[in-house]
Amino acid sequence: MGAVSSFLPIRIGQHVVSPVFLAPMAGITDAPFRETVRDFGTIPAIAEMVASEACIRKNPKTLHMLNFYKGESPKIVQLVGCIPERMAEAAKISADRGADILNVNMGCPARKIVHKEAGAALMRDKRLAEKILRAVVRATSLPVTVKMRLGWDAQQKNASEIAYIAEQTGVALIMVHGRTRAQFYAGVADWNAVGEIKRSVCLPVLVNGDIKDTDTAIAALNASKADGLMIGRAALGAPWIPSQVACSLKTGMPSAPLPLIKRQHTAIRHLDRMLEFYGEEKVLFLSRKHMCWYSKGLKRAAAFRMQINTARSTKEIQEFIEKIYDEQEC
Ligand SMILES: Cc1cc2nc3c(=O)[nH]c(=O)nc-3n(C[C@H](O)[C@H](O)[C@H](O)COP(=O)(O)O)c2cc1C
Repeated sequence: MGAVSSFLPIRIGQHVVSPVFLAPMAGITDAPFRETVRDFGTIPAIAEMVASEACIRKNPKTLHMLNFYKGESPKIVQLVGCIPERMAEAAKISADRGADILNVNMGCPARKIVHKEAGAALMRDKRLAEKILRAVVRATSLPVTVKMRLGWDAQQKNASEIAYIAEQTGVALIMVHGRTRAQFYAGVADWNAVGEIKRSVCLPVLVNGDIKDTDTAIAALNASKADGLMIGRAALGAPWIPSQVACSLKTGMPSAPLPLIKRQHTAIRHLDRMLEFYGEEKVLFLSRKHMCWYSKGLKRAAAFRMQINTARSTKEIQEFIEKIYDEQEC
C-alpha cells in the first residue's frame, strides 16, 4: 500500500464530511442502498438523479426517490435538467423535502438526457451551464455541488473552464469523472486530467472513475491531488468498499476482506430494506441486480443468478442467498 500526503474531512457549507463519497448511480443509489453503505461507516452518498421536470410535475416515482432513510446525513440530491428556472424550482422542492446539499448533473452521457441538452451536454454550452448553476445556487440557501466529466469529447476537454465558472457562481464543491462524454465508460479514467481541474479552482475537488480499492484510491489521489474521491461501480454488491477505502486511507493500514457471514447478512439486510421501501411487487424485480452482484466471486454464482432471476417471492430470494453463502463453506 502506498500513501497519500493529506486526507482530511471536507467542508460543504455547514457539513463536514468524509472525503470518500458514494457516487450517484441511477437505479442503484436509492435509500435502501445508501443506508446499507452507511452500515459500514459515514460515507456521504448522492441519491439517484432526479429530473427537474418530473420533480415539478410531482411524478410519484420521482418524488419517491426524494425519500431518505431515517437519520441520513447529509441528504444529497442530484438534479438533472436544462432550463435554469425549472432547475431552480426543483431545487426548492428538494429543499422542502429535506435535502441538505444539492448536486447539479453535468456528467450524464445517456442519449435521452444529452438530447435534451442536459447532463454532459451542458459542458458544450458554457452560458447555459452558468445560468443553471446561478439559478440553483440562488434558489435556496443549501450548498450546491456539481458533478461533471472532462468535457464533451477529446477535442473539447473544457472541465477547467466549467469548474472556474462553477466557482464564480458560488458552487461549493466539484466532482469530476475522469472521462469525456464521448467515452461513456470506455477506456480508463484520466486522474491526471482531474488534477488540471483541481489546479484551476480553489474549491474542493473529488476525483472519480475506476477507483475500486485502496490502491487505486491512492493512485487517483496522488495523480490528481484531489481533496477526496468518489466510488461508484466498485460498491455494487460490495457496499462496504467505500468505508474500507476511507478507513485504510485514514489509518494507512490495509482492510481485511469482509467475512462471508457478514456479506450474507448485508445482502439480506439490503433486501429487507428494499422490501420496506418498495413493497413486495416491485422488490422482486428491483432487487435482482443487487442480489446477483452480491454473488460476485462466489462458488456456484451462475446457478444462483438463474435462481434469483426466476424467484417468485422475496422469501425465495432470501432462501437462495442463505443457501449460496452456506454452501461456500463446503
Ligand atoms: C448504472 C450507473 C448509473 C449512473 N447514474 C449516474 C447518475 O444518475 N448521475 C451521475 O452523476 N452519474 C451517474 N453515474 C456515473 C457514476 O456516478 C460515476 O461517475 C461513474 O460510474 C464512474 O465512477 P466508477 O468508476 O467509480 O463507477 C452512473 C454510473 C452507473 C454505472
